[in-house]
Amino acid sequence: MRAYQLPKGGAGIEALAKVERPKPSPGHRQVLVKVAACSLNYRDLGIVRGTYRMPSKENVIPLSDGAGEVVETGSGVTRVKVGDKVCGNFFQRWPGGEPPPDVQSTALGGAIDGMLAEFVVLEEEGAVKIPAHLSLEEGATLPCAGVTVWHAMMEHGRMIAGQTVLLQGTGGVSIFGLQFAHAMGMQAVITSSSDDKLAKAKKLGASHTINYKTTPDWEKAALEFTGGRGVDHVVEVGGAGTFTKSFGAIRLGGKISMIGNLSGPATELNPGLIMGRRANIQGISVGSTQMFEAMNRMIAANAIKPVIDKVFGFDEVQAAYQHMASGAHFGKIVIRVA
Ligand SMILES: NC(=O)c1ccc[n+]([C@@H]2O[C@H](COP(=O)([O-])OP(=O)(O)OC[C@H]3O[C@@H](n4cnc5c(N)ncnc54)[C@H](OP(=O)(O)O)[C@@H]3O)[C@@H](O)[C@H]2O)c1
Repeated sequence: MRAYQLPKGGAGIEALAKVERPKPSPGHRQVLVKVAACSLNYRDLGIVRGTYRMPSKENVIPLSDGAGEVVETGSGVTRVKVGDKVCGNFFQRWPGGEPPPDVQSTALGGAIDGMLAEFVVLEEEGAVKIPAHLSLEEGATLPCAGVTVWHAMMEHGRMIAGQTVLLQGTGGVSIFGLQFAHAMGMQAVITSSSDDKLAKAKKLGASHTINYKTTPDWEKAALEFTGGRGVDHVVEVGGAGTFTKSFGAIRLGGKISMIGNLSGPATELNPGLIMGRRANIQGISVGSTQMFEAMNRMIAANAIKPVIDKVFGFDEVQAAYQHMASGAHFGKIVIRVA
């Protein structure tokens, strides 16, 4: 079968190579999936650049996100059947509840081979049916960005209608956050470096938009928007360059889900900020199969369609990565496999 592999983390986009690999076969409680499409996440760029915080295996088949059809089931499989359209959960062995201590060893496209291949074997507990109204290309966008922001807003944030979430930038995580907030009756404040992207965010239901380049004190603008009260929740994807500012945007007792490091990996934090805002901070690492299924029910109930920026062919994988590296995208970048 055709697949891509990366000789080792940090080898660069040019090192992504198209290869022939043996077609895998499913074992006990595993399923074989014919992959139709994959999507890119910032983490995938981090892995090829060597800036991702977790090591990846040599010659890894990249990408956590993909969707396809189940074409064979191993013994003992009950959750899915041949013909089902599924995604892989980012962590193949985190069905629900607390994450197991070895959860990271089952991360697709990092610790274990990922989805950028014609066929993949998934654990049945790590296979999730996609909402019926979505195409396989749309379904392929859900696993990492979608589940992460769902975990942040609904599991950590316990957000309810009428509350306000602040989203940073217009990449995959933030645009799903915007769509979820809009569908569930929450207000979304979103930042971007581009006024054009902010206009698109407005069309998707953003209540308030802020250009973080022309308004570097965006936290003050967010505070003003809430009449001085502050937002209930920040989905923190900026990291070092934005984290301190996020304390200026939240209400007393507000929450910050710590997710990303787009502006650099480390910073000094004044612990007094946590006390001063009575803040609740939670580190998030994607989510469980149960969270993925709960998110899919909400997506189906509201007929949400993921925002796809651009679709690339299987021979254009390096161009797809370059497009993500350019930061020009709005929402998700997809690679067609089949
Ligand atoms: N912890 C987890 O489980 C988890 C899961 C998913 C993602 N993440 C992390 O979350 C971050 C976002 O991931 P993604 O896949 O959504 O990325 P993405 O699609 O590549 O989105 C990146 C966008 O973020 C915005 N951005 C860049 N620098 C920024 C800054 N300094 N301040 C505010 N916004 C900035 C830009 O939007 P504009 O062009 O609009 O300015 C950029 O296009 C990454 O750090 C990723 O590693 C973590």
